[in-house]
Amino acid sequence: MEKFLVERSLNLTGRVRTSGAKNASLPILAAALLGTEDIILEDVPRLRDVTVMCEVLKALGAKVRTYEDGTILINSSGLNNYETKSELMNKMRASFLVMGPLLGRLGKSKNSLPGGCKIGPRPIDLHLKGFKALGARIEEHKSYDAEQNESYVMASADELIGDRIYLDFPSVGATENIMMAAVLAKGETVIENAAKEPEIVDLSNFLRKLGGNIKGAGTSRITINGVERLKGAKHQIIPDRIEAGTYMVAAAISGGDLVVENVIPNHLSPVIAKLEETGCELTINDEEIRVKSNKDLKAIDIKTLPYPGFPTDMQAQFMALTTALKGQSVVIETVFENRFMHVNEFRKMGADIKIDGRSAIINGNVPLIGTKVNATDLRSGAALILAGFSAEGKTEIGNIYHIERGYEDVEEKFRSIGGNIKRIEVDED
Ligand code: EPZ
Repeated sequence: MEKFLVERSLNLTGRVRTSGAKNASLPILAAALLGTEDIILEDVPRLRDVTVMCEVLKALGAKVRTYEDGTILINSSGLNNYETKSELMNKMRASFLVMGPLLGRLGKSKNSLPGGCKIGPRPIDLHLKGFKALGARIEEHKSYDAEQNESYVMASADELIGDRIYLDFPSVGATENIMMAAVLAKGETVIENAAKEPEIVDLSNFLRKLGGNIKGAGTSRITINGVERLKGAKHQIIPDRIEAGTYMVAAAISGGDLVVENVIPNHLSPVIAKLEETGCELTINDEEIRVKSNKDLKAIDIKTLPYPGFPTDMQAQFMALTTALKGQSVVIETVFENRFMHVNEFRKMGADIKIDGRSAIINGNVPLIGTKVNATDLRSGAALILAGFSAEGKTEIGNIYHIERGYEDVEEKFRSIGGNIKRIEVDED
């Protein structure tokens, strides 16, 4: 089994370039099903999740060509299948994002229910609420003998009619799925309490290039006026704010001095603010941020919230940092029900962390000791690399496939700035 072997790495310095955003690429790849002419996407990160999404598109009848430089060509004029294969659905929850485009393009879509994952049950009720509001019939088939026939959800509509939809929670995926279903519906759709993440704005910009009529992305009220058909377009994916934030925290935890290139600073305001609160010195230019750490960083409190609040996808990485800060930090996770799996892994390294409901209380300045740990999800895996840089001795990280889902060339990028990380082959434990 492949693992990462991470050794203490102080003073990460130099320059590292952020790749295109995974969480913009996945909905935009799904949205490419709505186009009927050639689509060219640039700066798509070479990640396992992107590969899986391309497999899903091909299985639905789209032509997909990927290039080494992160360019992907898609042509969905030959779309001829409305069913997503379960083995692909089970590999990645984001495959569920093809439901809106299929409903919009073909009037039907059948998907096995997306697996929950360890950070929470990950329901889809808000996605389905939106499809129903647009006139779709929804048939949910829950089977409990997974071997025989898996659970699936079927949506179908002779015609989609625009309507007003209120999201009980500003769900990123539900906002994206409903936008993609509404763009070809008849009339006007208004999504209220919509998610405001930058990836929603990037999806909206892409759909507008295809000829979609969308206003208000990035605010809590998005208005979509349906059009007859969508053309082709060329689109460059925005930089990945979470990957960028992860490298910024790597500089902080290692006492380093690092420039992170290819960023959009105002996508990172909460991360910038919190790193400055610890005492790091940040220099912010148009497309790059320099993080200069120091030896006496102070404890901070973090509360995750939907954008523009502090991102839940940076919670684990910051918790790693708090173990190295002077004093007691508090981390509150309000977005997912169970996004503290990394706490036990940090405890194995000697961290002093107490959990009380949705709050974690971290007594910093307890030196971590390297040991065997396991990634439990994408961001906790990245956080364990950061903890390994700060810990005495060696840290062996298992289940690294989680990390490779969201971090392009992760060991090369960390090594290029002085990180002591290498991939090793270990017999099953
Ligand atoms: C997206 O997931 C991201 N994934 C996640 O990033 C990110 O953590 C999350 O948004 C929040 O920012 C992609 O974009 C591919 P949600 P998504 O729907 O859309 C509840 C990463 O590490 N909810 O905003 O699945 C849900 O249970 C990943 O890159 C409902 O109740 O997130 C959760 O508590 C992890 N009903 C909350 O909303 C629904 O129908 C946020 O979920 C949908 C969601």
